[in-house]
Amino acid sequence: MKVSDRLDRQYNMYADEYLDAAKRVLESGWYILGNEVSSFEKEYAQYMGSKYCAALNSGLDALRLAVRALGIGKGDEVIVPANTFIATVMGVVEEGATPVFVEPDEYYCIDAGKIEAAITDKTKAVMVVHLYGQSADMGRICEIAKKHSLFVIEDCAQAHNSEFSGKKIGTWGDIGCFSFYPTKNLGAFGDSGAVITDNEDLANRIKTLRNYGSSIKYHNDLCGVNSRMDEIQAAFLRIKLTHLDELIAQRRKIAKMYLEGIDNSKIILPSLRDNATHVWHLFVVRCEERERLMSFLEDKGIHVQIHYPIPPHLQKCYEFLGHKEGEFPITEKYAKNVLSLPLFNGMTDEEVNYVIECINEF
Ligand SMILES: Cc1ncc(COP(=O)(O)O)c(C=O)c1O
Repeated sequence: MKVSDRLDRQYNMYADEYLDAAKRVLESGWYILGNEVSSFEKEYAQYMGSKYCAALNSGLDALRLAVRALGIGKGDEVIVPANTFIATVMGVVEEGATPVFVEPDEYYCIDAGKIEAAITDKTKAVMVVHLYGQSADMGRICEIAKKHSLFVIEDCAQAHNSEFSGKKIGTWGDIGCFSFYPTKNLGAFGDSGAVITDNEDLANRIKTLRNYGSSIKYHNDLCGVNSRMDEIQAAFLRIKLTHLDELIAQRRKIAKMYLEGIDNSKIILPSLRDNATHVWHLFVVRCEERERLMSFLEDKGIHVQIHYPIPPHLQKCYEFLGHKEGEFPITEKYAKNVLSLPLFNGMTDEEVNYVIECINEF
């Protein structure tokens, strides 16, 4: 049997709705920042329990523009998790600020207990990532941020609709940043992203920044970018949003099967944080013999992935930040041991059971 992430399955679940929406947009004669985008912004803000949403072109832009709109730039420091996808760090670096890395906890998110030691008089914000779909320790993180007057920027790219203490991620901090890259739990059919916030000024500034820094045509008040959402992506996202609860329920069912079925002392299963919900963007296990496990599974037709093999502080492009191997040992160990098992909408019980069987055989 071949098991590999299949995005066409989630398309096929609601294909007729997507085709109707595509036709509606194509026939409308309006293709960027129109009614579909403003409707999606309203619907997403409402779904997330936030006052405002600004739709953008990617998750990276959401992070960059959040940093810019908060007035953070050259000479400022932003605390970031060492264990994350590079875009988190890029959102800080591209705005001229300096990322200050903090090691992860056992749930792969930034270790709240290590944040205070990283704060200096240049620190302006903590950028939290709810990695793999489970919330970081938002209660403690927000307390620390409040005590030190720091902004909290949440990178929610992997955790749409995840909660901490019954409150949705993205609404804990000053601003929540989302990616709707096709593989994400709420994925479009191309690039797109958004921010949510309760701060009207911040939302308006980001809406201005996304359109060349202009809110009145040809009057450019801010130094902006082009990060506008396409109408067709907004129309697709509006449909997917109505099915998101069901899509997450499916992911939870697959994760439960893995958690209950995998029984192999060589495999470390994901830990679940008290007070947090997990939306299982990724099902990440750890194994000391990861390379051997990977080729064993690939030989069985099971395609697995590594999220992520090289931590940002060791990436070539960030050599200028001056970090060395060994500086963040927990992050570096995770990078050597983590492995993401197939988990996608439309995955059949037979496929899940086959993966379980092969892992237990390893
Ligand atoms: C944690 C995290 N942050 C940011 C991003 C960037 O999102 P995008 O690919 O839409 O720019 C991603 C996804 O790729 C991500 O996983």
